[in-house]
Amino acid sequence: MAKYKIAWLPGDGIGTEVMEAARIVLDAVGFEAEYINGDVGWEFWKSEGNPLPQRTIDLLNSTDACLFGAITSKPKEEAIKELAPELADKGFEYSSPIVGMRQLLNLHTNMRPCKAFPTNPANFRDGIDITVFRENTEGLYAGVEFYPLEDELRQSIIKHNKKMSKFDFALPDEIAISLRIITKRGATAIITSAFEYAKKTGRNKVTIAEKPNVIRETSGLFLRTGREIAKNYPGIEVEENNIDAIAMWLVKNPEDYDIIVTSNLFGDILSDITGMLTGGMGVSAAANIGDEYAVFEPTHGSAPKHAGKYKVNPIAQIMSAKLMLDWLGETEMADRIYKAIAQLIEEKKVLTYDMGGTAGTLDVANEIVRKLA
Ligand code: IPM
Ligand code: MG
Repeated sequence: MAKYKIAWLPGDGIGTEVMEAARIVLDAVGFEAEYINGDVGWEFWKSEGNPLPQRTIDLLNSTDACLFGAITSKPKEEAIKELAPELADKGFEYSSPIVGMRQLLNLHTNMRPCKAFPTNPANFRDGIDITVFRENTEGLYAGVEFYPLEDELRQSIIKHNKKMSKFDFALPDEIAISLRIITKRGATAIITSAFEYAKKTGRNKVTIAEKPNVIRETSGLFLRTGREIAKNYPGIEVEENNIDAIAMWLVKNPEDYDIIVTSNLFGDILSDITGMLTGGMGVSAAANIGDEYAVFEPTHGSAPKHAGKYKVNPIAQIMSAKLMLDWLGETEMADRIYKAIAQLIEEKKVLTYDMGGTAGTLDVANEIVRKLA
């Protein structure tokens, strides 16, 4: 029997081809696993009205970890139009399966290491090394949304809203509401993950990125929780700054940042910035980590326009597999993969178009395998 059971979820678009590349590398490094394919994504939305079928959730619950490719998400109306005709008007609503997995499995920590591989032609500058810890289950992604707004809710908001907002809810206007939910539990989980990681890896600064001067209650709770947790880590410097200021300084002085911890949507945005500073979406990997399970995925999307061409960069997916090996405790294999990728980039011979090369997806995977040997 193989040592590990891995849920294998390629998803949509380029997901399939970058997963194929990752598999070539996992096999070559000697990772002993049984891979079980799972259904997820657009195809299942169209045919079943559910992009994350229950059988896939069961699969996640019965495996050691999951490697995930990419999925296509479309706004409400467009999604409805693509449903199979017999499913139309049955009340199905699309919601992102990756967001669903994060919540259903309480994968509270989204860790996005953004470390520039030296000499990567796609780097903004060499030497940048930032890890974003993004809260992964709540915030503006909690999925508590209202539209249209029922009168009862509108009245209730008017009644309870006296305290701060000067916004006139009584205006007879169309209103849509998405709640930004921050819980002490969620904030504690993500902030603890960030500090524990700092401690484990010998990093000396954690930056809390929120907006407590305006979003007073939710950012306020997040920040207070951060200050409390920081007391348990006396050796680590804690910096607090507003999310917009951090976005600005990241562009100017990214070397000043080390670990950044923030809520869900802010982390989504910031990690795209840090990803782009360190080589782009082609190399940016993410780990969705809970207490007992984790799902690893590239930060990029399904890039439908490139699908089937085997031209996109598989490094983000291979790096996600590397993060999976780290999490499973197979650190030696993980390090070998990292070094092989670094060497490949340094040589600049077999690179995909985003790094200025002409190689295909599987060429890169095969070259990484040669470097492993
Ligand atoms: C990410 C992606 C997802 C997100 C999308 C695909 C739902 O942008 O993982 O950063 O917004 O979290
Ligand atoms: Mg994103």
